[in-house]
Amino acid sequence: MTKVAIIGTGPCGLSMLRSFEQAEKKGEKIPEIVCFEKQEDWGGLWNYSWRTGSDQYGDSVPNSMYRYLWSNGPKECLEFADYSFDEHFGKPIPSFPPREVLYDYILGRVKKGNIKNKVRFNNSVTNVTYNGKNFEVTSRDKKNDKNLKENFDYVVISTGHFSVPFIPEYAGMKSFPGRILHSHDFRDAEEFRGKNVIVLGSSYSAEDIALQCHKYGAKSVTIGYRHNPMGFKWPIGVKEVHYLDRIDGNKAIFKDGHKQEADAIILCCGYLHHFPFLTEDLKLKTRNRLYPPKLYKGVVWQNNHNLLYLGMQDQFHTFNMFDCQAWFARDVIMNKIKIPNDSEIEKDINKWVAMEEKLENPDQMIDFQTEYTKELHDLSDYPKIDFELIRKHFKEWEHHKMEDIMTYRNKSFSSPVTGSVAPIHHTPWASAMDDSSKTFLNQSKK
Ligand SMILES: Cc1cc2nc3c(=O)[nH]c(=O)nc-3n(C[C@H](O)[C@H](O)[C@H](O)COP(=O)(O)OP(=O)(O)OC[C@H]3O[C@@H](n4cnc5c(N)ncnc54)[C@H](O)[C@@H]3O)c2cc1C
Ligand SMILES: NC(=O)c1ccc[n+]([C@@H]2O[C@H](COP(=O)([O-])OP(=O)(O)OC[C@H]3O[C@@H](n4cnc5c(N)ncnc54)[C@H](OP(=O)(O)O)[C@@H]3O)[C@@H](O)[C@H]2O)c1
Repeated sequence: MTKVAIIGTGPCGLSMLRSFEQAEKKGEKIPEIVCFEKQEDWGGLWNYSWRTGSDQYGDSVPNSMYRYLWSNGPKECLEFADYSFDEHFGKPIPSFPPREVLYDYILGRVKKGNIKNKVRFNNSVTNVTYNGKNFEVTSRDKKNDKNLKENFDYVVISTGHFSVPFIPEYAGMKSFPGRILHSHDFRDAEEFRGKNVIVLGSSYSAEDIALQCHKYGAKSVTIGYRHNPMGFKWPIGVKEVHYLDRIDGNKAIFKDGHKQEADAIILCCGYLHHFPFLTEDLKLKTRNRLYPPKLYKGVVWQNNHNLLYLGMQDQFHTFNMFDCQAWFARDVIMNKIKIPNDSEIEKDINKWVAMEEKLENPDQMIDFQTEYTKELHDLSDYPKIDFELIRKHFKEWEHHKMEDIMTYRNKSFSSPVTGSVAPIHHTPWASAMDDSSKTFLNQSKK
């Protein structure tokens, strides 16, 4: 019998498990599946952890999410086609839920079946090699401190790529008297109340952590961008300046001559695609981009079609794109989709990479990833979902952000699955300090 190893039970790993479950429900014979998860529970980044650094077994902590994190895109854009928000919550809910609410949603559909018994929790995959016939997967049972080697016909890498921080160094950091941390280790904006905070970076982490610190009472927030400023209309107390040059004592000195006293520096400098458990011939090497090369349809490893990667792209689309990838990967594994010859594969990858390299603005990037997701969607029986509406929502969302970065999370969108329109949340995001599910879902609260 065909044996499949799935590594990781974040949203991608869960999509993979769900796709097999759906095929089985239709009476298809599915392969034997073993899913490895290094944490004690599933949900990936959405499973918040207070831990940073390493866990009680000496294994690195993958979590990068923090308290008071809210969805940064409309939930309608990530909705599962086979499990709507309305079905899970029993009523329409606002468009920008906090982490705990999305975590609950992600787990909703997989909790219903018998999927969990396919997962070996507290099991880290430490080595994967290919012997010309199949894969040898070594895993460490962390609780019992035991290593196990097993053979598999297919390996699915769903380990995420926002867990291993990229940490640059700037002159003067060694003698900086305050705290320096990467966004990966940021857990609670309250820590920075009354402080002068420097945030380095110009992407989603920089934007959100700067606003979090401001929202929870930082004295000042100075964002240092490297290439392009985010250019939002920042609230009073937040400013964006050009690139950190050096630290001098407790002062941050920027390339544009700006100087700022600092109590803390938060490096929102992104993450590394890091797969220490894979041999070089199997390892995806890429920066964070919309079409990493060497992946046919963004999923199948070009040099070994029995190795599949999920969710390795930079992401506008998330959960339903992961589903489309998983349904496609499942059908490759179950031989329902035939992989073309090497030159066709090369041509297809090159086509997408060349298109990606020409993208100039967020609208074009949204179009690109929507086209990619639609193409994948057409290749499997993943249920119908209105990607044209999702495309429209993403563009509107981008424009809302440019209009006012403090209010974009107060807007409402319609579902691409059920058509229902989200109610407006009872409290504007800027003054919603309590991010618990209970408070968020209590729509009668004033
Ligand atoms: C701070 C932050 C906020 C975000 N906010 C949003 C948001 O608002 N909306 C949105 O759509 N997306 C958001 N994202 C994007 C996020 O990447 C996806 O939502 C999603 O979590 C990706 O799923 P994944 O399964 O690829 O990876 P992950 O969620 O990272 O899951 C990977 C899993 O693999 C496991 N694993 C890793 N290595 C091994 C190993 N060697 N052996 C066994 N198990 C292993 C990990 O423990 C983890 O459970 C955010 C990302 C970050 C970093
Ligand atoms: N829900 C939420 O609110 C939320 C919050 C945070 C993150 N997220 C998600 O988390 C994921 C990761 O986002 P991310 O922002 O961490 O990573 P990212 O999107 O990969 O961006 C990395 C950033 O680091 C900058 N950078 C790299 N090296 C630098 C240096 N030496 N000095 C200054 N800047 C440097 C890059 O700048 P250049 O452009 O100049 O290279 C870029 O702006 C995304 O999917 C995002 O949606 C969501």
